[in-house]
Amino acid sequence: MHKSLYVKDFMWSENEWPKIRHDDYESGDNMPLISLLEILDGKRESEAYENLCKDMVMACESWGFFKLVDHGIPNVVIESMKERCLGLFDLPMEQKLKGERSSNLPLGYSPTNTDYGHNLPWAESLQLLQSPQQVLTFSKKVFGNEHSPFSDAMLDYMHAMDALGMLIFEMLAHGLGLPHDYFSKNFEEKEATMIRINRYPPCPLPSKCLGLGSHSDPHTLTILLQDEVGGLQVLKKDEEWVGIRPLPNSFIINVGDTLEAWSNGRLKSVVHRAVVNKEKQRFSIAYFLSPASDMVVDSPSQLIDQEKTLKDTFLLHGHNSEES
Ligand code: OGA
Ligand code: NI
Repeated sequence: MHKSLYVKDFMWSENEWPKIRHDDYESGDNMPLISLLEILDGKRESEAYENLCKDMVMACESWGFFKLVDHGIPNVVIESMKERCLGLFDLPMEQKLKGERSSNLPLGYSPTNTDYGHNLPWAESLQLLQSPQQVLTFSKKVFGNEHSPFSDAMLDYMHAMDALGMLIFEMLAHGLGLPHDYFSKNFEEKEATMIRINRYPPCPLPSKCLGLGSHSDPHTLTILLQDEVGGLQVLKKDEEWVGIRPLPNSFIINVGDTLEAWSNGRLKSVVHRAVVNKEKQRFSIAYFLSPASDMVVDSPSQLIDQEKTLKDTFLLHGHNSEES
C-alpha cells in the first residue's frame, strides 16, 4: 500500500539544505574534461593515448570526477534510451507500479528512492541489474506484449555503457602503470552492475528538499548521463559544494568506493548529491559498474609501494591518515 505523502515528508534537516541553486555552476567549472577524439580509432600506441591515460588518472586523484566528451557512443543509443525512459515516467502511476520491486524483481521502479539519506528524496527512479532477464521481466510487467521498444533501448544502452566502462578501466590501469586489463578482466560477469534512472520532478520547496542526498557511489565506476537542467553537486575537499554545469553530448564519470579501495586510495570516491528546482523536471541515468560479486578487491603491489608518497600527499592536503 502507498500512503499519501506531503511536501513536509520530503523536507531535509537544515544542515543538508542546499546553499547553492541547481544552476549555480561557476564553482564547478574547473572539473576536468576528457575528450576521446584522438583515440576513437582504437590506436593505443600514441602519445595522445599516453597523455589521456595520465590525465584521466589525475582527474580521478584530484576530483574523483571528470566530464567525458567525444565518447563514441552513437547518438541514437542515447536518444532512444532517453525517449523510452521519459515515456516510462510519463505513464500513469498505476502502470509504473506494476514494475515495482517484488519477489521476482529484486530492484524495479520506485516512486521515491530511499536508498540514500534519511529523508525522502524528491525523485522517482527505476533500478535494474545489468541482466537481460531482469530487463525483460520488468519490461513485460509494465508494457506487456509491447515491451520490446523499451527493453531493446535499455539493453543497447547497457551494452554501450559496458564497452565504455571497459575502455575507461583500461585507460586508468595504464595511467596507473598497471597491465591494461588489470581492472577490466574482472567484469566478464555483469551480475552486480546496475542502472539507475532518476526523474526529479519540479519541487515546490527546492531550498529544503534534495533529489538525492549526499552519498558516494559504492560501486567501482559510475557513468552518468544528465540532461540540460542541472542539479548535480560535488563536495570538494574544503567541504564546499560545487555545481556541475551540464554539457551536451557528454557523460560524467566518477570513481566509486570499490575503485578507491582497489587503487589503494589513489583514485578518490567523492561525495555528491542532486538538488532540485521549482520550474523544470530533471532526468539522469547512472550506470554503476561492479565486478563479479565474489571478486576479492586487493590493491596491486605497484600502488602499495607508492603508499609513502601517498601519505605525504594526504598530509599535504590536510587529511588525517587513518593508519598508524
Ligand atoms: C546517483 C547519482 C546524480 C544525478 O544516481 O548515484 O549520484 O545527478 N545521481 O542524478
Ligand atoms: Ni551517485
